[in-house]
Amino acid sequence: MALFSMTASIPRVLFLVSLALAMAAGPWPVAARGGRLIHLHFYMHDITGGPDQTAVQVVKGPGAVHPLMPGSHFGDTTVIDDALTEGPSAASRLIGRAQGTYMLASLKEPVLMVTMTVALTGGAYNGSTIAVVGRDDVSAGVRELSVIGGTGAFRRATGHVLWRTSRIESRDHMVLELDVYATVPGGSLAPPPRVDGMHQAA
Ligand SMILES: *[C@@H]1O[C@H](CO)[C@@H](O)[C@H](O)[C@H]1NC(C)=O
Repeated sequence: MALFSMTASIPRVLFLVSLALAMAAGPWPVAARGGRLIHLHFYMHDITGGPDQTAVQVVKGPGAVHPLMPGSHFGDTTVIDDALTEGPSAASRLIGRAQGTYMLASLKEPVLMVTMTVALTGGAYNGSTIAVVGRDDVSAGVRELSVIGGTGAFRRATGHVLWRTSRIESRDHMVLELDVYATVPGGSLAPPPRVDGMHQAA
């Protein structure tokens, strides 16, 4: 009787062992493979007029006025070179610039399509850039955009950006608060070895 139950349990043990092996071989989150999370917090100054203008409309949408954005049209596109600062004041320490565009990309909702490079010019990440793309519903308290890549310390970065309107300084000066959460692969950031002919990099 005892022998019978022992032999009967062997297939079950084998099943559990093979299940464990199958799970160990399965896809696990990148963080488990030694990625490094970098969190940056800063403010962005979008200035659409006056002597310190950093955001210039380059396309005026040809359609009717947008139902929720007075004076705006579907397709309106603005190119930006907005200052990024450590604190909410434009006079606080400059840490970089946000260079790119935003386009009014919804017929009915107050939604911008943002495409920009965060170019860092100070601090530990001076010279590195972060590529940010996403949907900015200006009526939402917190918007989430994607980190789709980067250069320097942000090579092969993935992650997200939480984006809030911090304050409206004037009709032309909007201050946004950004939290960037980027995961970069672990290990060396040095360029990979050159591949000549049939010799593959390890
Ligand atoms: C950032 O790097 C540039 C180029 O190497 C250098 O000229 C500049 O002084 C650096 N800025 C800071 C704040 O470290």
